[in-house]
Amino acid sequence: MPHLWLIGMMGSGKSAVGRRVAGELGMRLIDLDDEIATRLGCSVSQLWGERGEEAFRDLEQAAVTRVAAGDDAVVATGGGVVLRDANIAAMRESGIVVWLRADPAVLSARVESGVGRPLLAEGEPRDVLDAILAAREDRYARAAHVVIDSGTGTADEVADEVTAQWTAS
Ligand code: S3P
Repeated sequence: MPHLWLIGMMGSGKSAVGRRVAGELGMRLIDLDDEIATRLGCSVSQLWGERGEEAFRDLEQAAVTRVAAGDDAVVATGGGVVLRDANIAAMRESGIVVWLRADPAVLSARVESGVGRPLLAEGEPRDVLDAILAAREDRYARAAHVVIDSGTGTADEVADEVTAQWTAS
């Protein structure tokens, strides 16, 4: 069985949906940000603050490579995982990539506080999310085998849809 990679913007529900999907499918869940933080012994925000975004992206790419080569899992990625072509290739080659897509209006309501998300500290969350989605949309589309709307239903409903797509694939 291949990996099930969940991609999408901050607030798109990757972690909440991933937890449910892993439970439904009896697979283990890997949260890529947690994996990086645990290995490093500090939070993503701390790492970002002390060493900058590129250092975080290098560690993120190493984590994708490691996870892709490991035992099968549902993987909740960080929103910027699609920024590197190598990550897109590794995810697509090792499983099914599902894009949880939602509008910035929905995303900004969900990530209101921005706690633990350094990119949101760079301006008004709604404006930041608009700009990030515009810059990344093509990459999410290129990475994804399947696109699921995560802006309207509950996490349970979205998880059911992901599970159904996985089972059909
Ligand atoms: C990021 C999203 C975050 C985290 C980091 C960068 C991004 O993960 O990886 O703050 O570039 O969109 P979530 O999508 O889980 O919030």
